[in-house]
Amino acid sequence: MGSLAGKRIVLGVTGGIAAYKAVEIASRLRKAGAEVHVIMTREATEFVTELTFREITGQPVSVDMWQKVANFNVEHIALANLADVVLIAPATANILAKISVGIADDMLTTTVLATKAPIIMAPAMNTNMYENPVTQKNIGELKARGVQIIEPAAGHLACGIEGKGRLPEPVEIVAAVTAFMTGKQLLSGKKIIVTAGGTIEPLDPVRYLGNRSTGKMGYAIAQEAARQGAEVLLVSGPSNLPNPVGVRMVRIQTALEMQAAVQAEYTEADAVIMSAAVADYRPKTVAREKIKKSDGKLVFELERNPDILYGLGQQKGQQLLVGFAAETCHLEEYARKKLVKKNLDFIVANDVSAKDAGFAVDNNRVQLFFRNGDSEKYPLMSKQELAKIILNKIAERMS
Ligand code: C5P
Repeated sequence: MGSLAGKRIVLGVTGGIAAYKAVEIASRLRKAGAEVHVIMTREATEFVTELTFREITGQPVSVDMWQKVANFNVEHIALANLADVVLIAPATANILAKISVGIADDMLTTTVLATKAPIIMAPAMNTNMYENPVTQKNIGELKARGVQIIEPAAGHLACGIEGKGRLPEPVEIVAAVTAFMTGKQLLSGKKIIVTAGGTIEPLDPVRYLGNRSTGKMGYAIAQEAARQGAEVLLVSGPSNLPNPVGVRMVRIQTALEMQAAVQAEYTEADAVIMSAAVADYRPKTVAREKIKKSDGKLVFELERNPDILYGLGQQKGQQLLVGFAAETCHLEEYARKKLVKKNLDFIVANDVSAKDAGFAVDNNRVQLFFRNGDSEKYPLMSKQELAKIILNKIAERMS
């Protein structure tokens, strides 16, 4: 039996010169035991024919949204539902851009929008297109949403220049897909609570005290934990991000509501990852009516919110506790103090004064400090990659 036996793979082929390599990818996937359903963009058909893929996969090939295909009623939904994984190789700059903003104007983009299966994309294009900030931004956005990106290789490109942008060899792509699909589920059977976003503390019916947290880090952790097999509860402050797939969500607004939601499930939890930016203070009174402006000063009295994580540390049993420390100076000193005071297993510290990392961006540059005094410093990376590192550290400590 092949390593992908029983897996159903939707292979999206887009219109780059590397489209010919997708033929070998389809063939290798099939040899590994997978059922392969190819969707081509119109442009891809300029490089390779539908017939080639049909012969190789033994399945109908889809291009046109409106063509009649024997086996499926509403075909893009059927393919979206049957897929165990959607692999797009090669992925042009155009498809990266379309998928990053949710455009659905052909069979492939519609299927991607409708699927709940994991998505793997292998970008391949001219180096300048790849390095263009807009392409990099789209890739960052996709990674942050949990799309797996197989990095292009460097080398001699069809356009005559040397640089990054070449589609890795089919054998490497199939190896990456196989590793992804057969990877050990490190957190299966574990219950993990993740908090994300900022809390908002009302002043009156229309105003609140809040902060700049967007929830990106916590959502990436929740998504990755679910992918690693954990049962995940995500307690989130207001955020524009989509619900991570396979994650139970509780949406809250205030620190007190967040505390109640976390406490309700704490006893059963194996780990709590507090990535939320919890407001330390809340207005002592919330005006019932909208506060009117007047000539004088407006003074608010604030009172302390509970430190949720500190409270969890006090009641700590089997749970692993992970905190975040966002600092603008004395990073190490403050992070180590919090680690001890809050009784954590480790703390993720980042310097939020850096422009390229931290709040509201796709990347983070952190240092981890552990209970036993060890620390590990990491370079700038996507929040998705960082989520994997954090969860690996948790899995190591659970086994
Ligand atoms: O003390 P500081 O706010 O810097 O600690 C940050 C860590 O503590 C984060 O993990 C945050 O989610 C958590 N925290 C909390 N309750 C608060 C403030 C912070 O759980 N009121």
